[in-house]
Amino acid sequence: GYDISKLLGETGNVTLDVGFVNTASCKSAITYIDGGAGILRYRGYPIEQLAEKSTFIEVSYLLIYGELPTPEELDAFTERIRRHTMLHEDLKDLLAAFPRDAHPMSVLSAAVSALGTFYQDSLSITDRDQIELSTVRLLAKLPTIAAYAHKKSQGQPTLYPDNKLSLVENFLRMTFGFPSEDYDIDPVVSKALDQLFILHADHEQNCSTSTVRLVGSGHANLFGSISAGIHALSGPLHGGANAAVLEMLDSIDSEFGGDVDKFVEKVKNKETGVKLMGFGHRVYKNYDPRAAIVKKSADEILKKMGVNDPQLEMAMRLEEIALKDDYFVSRKLYPNVDFYTGLIYKAMGFPTEMFTVLFAIGRLPGWIAQWREMMEDPATKIGRPRQIYVGEGARDY
Ligand code: ACO
Repeated sequence: GYDISKLLGETGNVTLDVGFVNTASCKSAITYIDGGAGILRYRGYPIEQLAEKSTFIEVSYLLIYGELPTPEELDAFTERIRRHTMLHEDLKDLLAAFPRDAHPMSVLSAAVSALGTFYQDSLSITDRDQIELSTVRLLAKLPTIAAYAHKKSQGQPTLYPDNKLSLVENFLRMTFGFPSEDYDIDPVVSKALDQLFILHADHEQNCSTSTVRLVGSGHANLFGSISAGIHALSGPLHGGANAAVLEMLDSIDSEFGGDVDKFVEKVKNKETGVKLMGFGHRVYKNYDPRAAIVKKSADEILKKMGVNDPQLEMAMRLEEIALKDDYFVSRKLYPNVDFYTGLIYKAMGFPTEMFTVLFAIGRLPGWIAQWREMMEDPATKIGRPRQIYVGEGARDY
């Protein structure tokens, strides 16, 4: 109903693209996605190969520095990260002040923001050594912060990192172990978690990564930019979907007596506003290659762990019905990476609130790589979208 030519009169020539469906915000050499063909590559390497053969630390190196490391480079990188896993004791005091039932994503973002106050020696956005130091500090400390947030929510004592362990093993021990008790790391769990982190490590200009870039484009430091990205990730339409999937499966049980077909009918009635969480993607219109890997490993891992979760069967049935139903087929809605991850996290012993925190740990190297790429690109400008004004014309006070 608006006269668009009139509206544009004062705004100039702008393109309206709500949700940036067709607008590229930058050039990037990090991640390639072909949504139609279901292809995802980091720096040219197919996600399937990286998930099978690589490690999260190695993939982090690849994303940030552009090439796979030599064994010596990988050792040096791992060692640098190891040296920074501890949290400043005063930072722990700060975190201790949050209420026990604080959502761990809020704690995570606040803690990362606070890193900027504790490490003022690495806030530069141009000095490469400082950027390097902030990079390593973030990669090393985020798992410690995440484990701390979990322990605090459980009212349990926190553990210091044990730097003999790998990054993922250390995180598992700090999350589930107890001081003065040995903690046996299950290699199946640690390998599966490492693989899940690889699958989440980057996904080009998604909501949280675009947030990191937009905040950084105003020349905010790395800690502040990543802190904003964590909040962007927390929403249920983005990273929060992994927790929302489990809540949905719970509700199918409690509200529909486990009747998946009935639930699907409710989703198809758009007036209800209910969505099939873990389904649909802005870019993948064929299938999400990460979901294919996760689905296979969910089945294997749960079997290996001896977990018989009826919710896995329910999820598989839900997928089966949806993939045959015209509502989902015509809209090209397929399971995304979040559809099965929650079931794996649950089997590993993580509470639902921690699911998106796990996503954040995985996505961190991608956020860092994208921020660094943007800062080094001479073509970068401050991100400043335009708008179409539809409010009142000039009027007197
Ligand atoms: N359940 C039911 N209907 C859906 C779903 C869903 N999960 N997703 C999209 N639709 C419908 C929309 O209502 C719309 O229907 P219409 O054409 O009749 O109006 C159509 O499919 C197209 O959907 P859009 O909302 O235009 O798709 P968009 O690209 O904007 O949204 C998104 C993508 C946000 C992922 C959406 O599919 C969704 O909300 N999914 C559920 C949440 C989720 O799983 N998010 C995780 C995404 S992956 C990630 O961030 C890691």
